[in-house]
Amino acid sequence: MKSMGGDDTLPEVEEAPLIIDVDFTEVEEEPDTPTLDAVDEISTARARRPMDLPHSKPSPAGRARVVTVTNQKGGVGKTTTVINIAAQLALRGHRVLVVDSDSQGNCATGLGVDKSRVRTTTRDLILAPETAVDSRHATAVDNLHIIVGDRSLIGLEQEMLRQLGRERRMKEALEPLLPHYDIVLIDTPPSLGLVTINALVASDGIIIPVQTEYFALEGLALLAGTVREVRSLLNGDLGVDGVLMTMHSQTLLNQQVAGELLESFPELVVKPAIRRNVRLAEAPSHGVPIHLHDPSSAGGKDYQEIATVLERRWGLA
Ligand SMILES: Nc1ncnc2c1ncn2[C@@H]1O[C@H](COP(=O)(O)OP(=O)(O)OP(=O)(O)O)[C@@H](O)[C@H]1O
Ligand SMILES: [Mg+2]
Repeated sequence: MKSMGGDDTLPEVEEAPLIIDVDFTEVEEEPDTPTLDAVDEISTARARRPMDLPHSKPSPAGRARVVTVTNQKGGVGKTTTVINIAAQLALRGHRVLVVDSDSQGNCATGLGVDKSRVRTTTRDLILAPETAVDSRHATAVDNLHIIVGDRSLIGLEQEMLRQLGRERRMKEALEPLLPHYDIVLIDTPPSLGLVTINALVASDGIIIPVQTEYFALEGLALLAGTVREVRSLLNGDLGVDGVLMTMHSQTLLNQQVAGELLESFPELVVKPAIRRNVRLAEAPSHGVPIHLHDPSSAGGKDYQEIATVLERRWGLA
């Protein structure tokens, strides 16, 4: 810590905990050492591994595995992942239920469901768990059902604050449905609020889509903290099923971030990285997943390969 010189001195600056691992070695009697070496070292310094993500446990026998797709960062590909993994697994014959807990309600649109005609939503599921069975709707894909999220979820967190057992509502509501499905995929809003906590408490595993851009690892650190808290207080079995690299391109930055993710979480990162592909972005406007829109596109192929890896991890293969 250094104080400013002169009479008008400012209070000392608080030292910030540094996340850059730089090995400063004092060089006292080494006149030959070029002075620029220190700069070199800093430029090659790597961010310290920022967190531990706990691995998940195998799927429970006789009932669906419940998996939340989450990242508090917006627009990283959560919904696109839910729609396309769910659809791909359903096309392979698995019984799949999507639960959309985001008020944007994009899962319904992307799966060809007309939200304006839906009467029961994820809001009912949480506030009145006994409605769970009747909250489900068919989609454009066989074997794939959905509990729709929509604007009615706005304000739900405030209402839930008054309820007992507010973190476990979704878990209790889903319980009777689980024997009838192989996999339940929950889409979450870009926040770590009470609805997302409900999804994590109800889940066996988490899928984390991460855009291979700067700040990706910082976002993960925040999520890792939430997972730790949920594990210690509410769901000791919660673990990560996979980290997905999304909207990936061949830029240097994308490659570097992908490299760091692979190095930090070698067993959790699911390959391949999902390429940035306009066909993925346009499929929802047709109300179908990529595999009914353009299965041979880059996005279609990437999600097929990802689904195969996850199918194995989830014991569905
Ligand atoms: N691999 C991809 N290539 C191109 N566009 C993509 C890709 N994945 C997603 N998108 C598009 O990026 C936008 C954000 O994706 P998406 O809605 O899936 O993210 P999200 O994490 O669910 O966002 P939010 O946090 O708002 O819920 C959408 O318009 C989607 O169509
Ligand atoms: Mg979304």
